[in-house]
Amino acid sequence: MNGAPHHKVRLAIFASGTGTNAQKIIDYFRAHPTIQVGLIVCNKAGAGVLSIASREGIPHILIDKEKFFRGNAYVDELKGSGIDFIVLAGFLWKVPAALVSTWHKRIINIHPALLPKFGGKGLYGHHVHEAVINSGDTESGITIHYVDEIYDHGAPIFQEKVIIEEGDTPETLAKKIQILEHLHFPRIIEKVIEEKQNS
Ligand code: GRF
Repeated sequence: MNGAPHHKVRLAIFASGTGTNAQKIIDYFRAHPTIQVGLIVCNKAGAGVLSIASREGIPHILIDKEKFFRGNAYVDELKGSGIDFIVLAGFLWKVPAALVSTWHKRIINIHPALLPKFGGKGLYGHHVHEAVINSGDTESGITIHYVDEIYDHGAPIFQEKVIIEEGDTPETLAKKIQILEHLHFPRIIEKVIEEKQNS
């Protein structure tokens, strides 16, 4: 036995929007020996991430709010797809307790600010950067963290900062943050999974 696992760790990427993070994650794990992106889960018809899924030939599920929050939260579908790990990459709904408990400590999220500041309901996308700029803070950044039942609340895994310069706007800040997201998220996902496998 050469020690290679019987199967690759299968990731599901949950996303609601454009999917630039999803694309970077897909690229990063494209030829990875032990980890693969097995599913894209989206809650918004027509979202950019769905075109990425079809272009990449990755199966996708377009989820329904009723079933997600008052049904089985797609636990059976995710298990049926052999999902080992869930990555939220711009997913705007709260994750139901059924998913958090089934994939305990195996769901991670990226937030475009330095949590616990500027987190929680309604603080997503440009709303975050507007709040940061309006606060007069001189730095922002990204936070990658485990997901629990409360928005943007789980244990932190990784943070990286950017300096906010005179004249920065929510748009210029968003650009700086996006560079960090694309640079770090795939690598941190790999690190977390490999640490869990070796524990
Ligand atoms: C990113 O800002 C990420 O931090 C947040 O949602 C956004 C997703 O952007 N969670 P994209 O759809 O990956 O471009």
